Amino acid sequence: MDDYTRRSFIRTTLPGFLGISMALPGITAVATRARAAEGRLPEGEPIHWDAFLEAIAREAAKQHLDDWSEPAYVERAARIAGRLNLKDPELAKAFEQAKEGIGDGRVDFERLEKQQDFQISLVQFEKGEQISHHDHPGMTGILLCAAGNVDVWNYDELRKSPEEGHVLLRQTAKARLQKSSVSTLTSQDRNIHRLKARQLTQLVDIFAPPYTQERVRKSRWFDVDAEPYQGEGRDFLAKVR
Ligand SMILES: [Fe+2]
Repeated sequence: MDDYTRRSFIRTTLPGFLGISMALPGITAVATRARAAEGRLPEGEPIHWDAFLEAIAREAAKQHLDDWSEPAYVERAARIAGRLNLKDPELAKAFEQAKEGIGDGRVDFERLEKQQDFQISLVQFEKGEQISHHDHPGMTGILLCAAGNVDVWNYDELRKSPEEGHVLLRQTAKARLQKSSVSTLTSQDRNIHRLKARQLTQLVDIFAPPYTQERVRKSRWFDVDAEPYQGEGRDFLAKVR
């Protein structure tokens, strides 16, 4: 698959989507274990799914405070994500179940969790599948690679564009994520990204605040020139689709 449309994105993130939604009670019902476990675990120890949810919920709740710092949040949340025990049986079950999407010719999205302040999705790519340039309006994101190998390019939109009807995107990061690697974006930095999998890849994506109909509507997809603007550097001319 070379691309996917906004429509398919909306459809595939709707609640009740196949697969993981059926596993949700199993994943979330154990949340009570979290409180006890998180407090006692030594720093740096792997944490299970429910402790992870608890920790992310606590950090994401701070977005309502006046002194909320997105860069500080994504750093903390990335650290929490890096501690998630990917062998947690409940999570492993979700990863296994997602494999039912293999061979369907598109990137698979499964919702793992949605709360008022954040949402977590499982995103699965087969080798060569990609998600083209898009943004996340007003949102922060943390991408944890649970399995596989995927290239991620991040961009910032520059204020001024040299050509009418176009925007200028500056590539600000490029990373190859492998198991346990994390990539982050804030509403201001690295917010636009593009992903392409080098092999079967499963990502756990944490978005805070979560998608709403309004944020989905505001999301933009870009057609980006293959070559940099004026043939050199890291700025690329792009058109909003
Ligand atoms: Fe994205």
